[in-house]
Amino acid sequence: MIRTAVLGAGRIGQVHASAVAASRLAQLVVVVDPFEEAAKSLAERIGCEAATDPLEVIARDDIDAVIIGTPTDTHVHLMLKAVEAGKAVLCEKPVDLDIAKVDEALRQLEDKDVPVMLAFNRRFDPSAAAMRQAIDAGEIGDVHQVVITSRDPGMPPEGYVQASGGIFRDMTIHDFDMARWLLGEEPTEVLATASRLVSPDLVEKYDDYDTVMVVMRTASGKQCHINNSRKAVYGYDQRMEVFGSNGMLLNDNLRPSTLRRYNQDQTEVHDPLLNFFLERYDDAFRAELEAFFGAVGSGKPVPVTPYDGRQALHLANCALESVRTGKVVKV
Ligand SMILES: NC(=O)c1ccc[n+]([C@@H]2O[C@H](COP(=O)([O-])OP(=O)(O)OC[C@H]3O[C@@H](n4cnc5c(N)ncnc54)[C@H](O)[C@@H]3O)[C@@H](O)[C@H]2O)c1
Repeated sequence: MIRTAVLGAGRIGQVHASAVAASRLAQLVVVVDPFEEAAKSLAERIGCEAATDPLEVIARDDIDAVIIGTPTDTHVHLMLKAVEAGKAVLCEKPVDLDIAKVDEALRQLEDKDVPVMLAFNRRFDPSAAAMRQAIDAGEIGDVHQVVITSRDPGMPPEGYVQASGGIFRDMTIHDFDMARWLLGEEPTEVLATASRLVSPDLVEKYDDYDTVMVVMRTASGKQCHINNSRKAVYGYDQRMEVFGSNGMLLNDNLRPSTLRRYNQDQTEVHDPLLNFFLERYDDAFRAELEAFFGAVGSGKPVPVTPYDGRQALHLANCALESVRTGKVVKV
């Protein structure tokens, strides 16, 4: 059993703590949050210790692995402290919003022989994983195009927008990672366009956008198109298409049931889409943790690395540069 601490008892920390508690590979020892009430109420709900000082917990001998679900600007510090203490780390995305800080962290991790995994959970969604397996099995021949639609059900609150680092680094970052993973090749050119159509005043206040499209090309000519909106009135819209020389793979939205309703006004009416990421990617968060613990337990490499986080952040920065210059940006 891998003795695990979860740092952060907020939205994502609660997801990870429940998944660790349910895992057969790990034991949830402690949840940590400087906001004592948050740590205590989560710990009571799940049945583990609560603590308020992450560095004290990282130093404990009875902790083997640390899951970092704290605000983004704390990730690098906590990750490096945990690695220094010899603890395996699963760190939430993004590594940081500042690529220079990420590069310095990668440099410090270079000679460390401790597993550090980045939490790009969507790779572990069963449908996305099946897509990647079908590509690897040669079912659609050579990949030519990847199309990713990712739309949130509604604008986040103002405080979130302010701290997010902007839509490309906060939201599209998942899609940049998915694009690299499905293309199987690094994008070399990025062209992006961005608009303020959902909450123009709010996003303009933070020099941000709410509606974006990105087109990318790899050195061999593979293409990817990503489109994001902060608000789809019909719910959390998550679809992907991979088109290849011998066919296509299509990953549609998930719904709570397969029921379809028919009446005199409408036919084929489905349940609403699963709303929002906690529901849609519940399986993915659990599978991600199992992959992490599996790698830690077996000594095999972790499936997603901080370098993957760095590359996705770099693509986000290129997209923003493309919006600002109106030009194709060389990656
Ligand atoms: N993979 C995903 O789909 C996904 C989804 C949501 C959030 N995230 C990422 O997870 C991170 C946290 O986001 P959230 O939405 O859970 O935020 P949140 O604000 O809901 O929770 C963060 C918690 O961390 C606590 N905290 C602050 N500093 C801490 C420290 N030094 N040690 C321990 N706890 C500390 C806060 O008190 C808070 O309770 C962000 O980096 C975000 O980008 C990823």
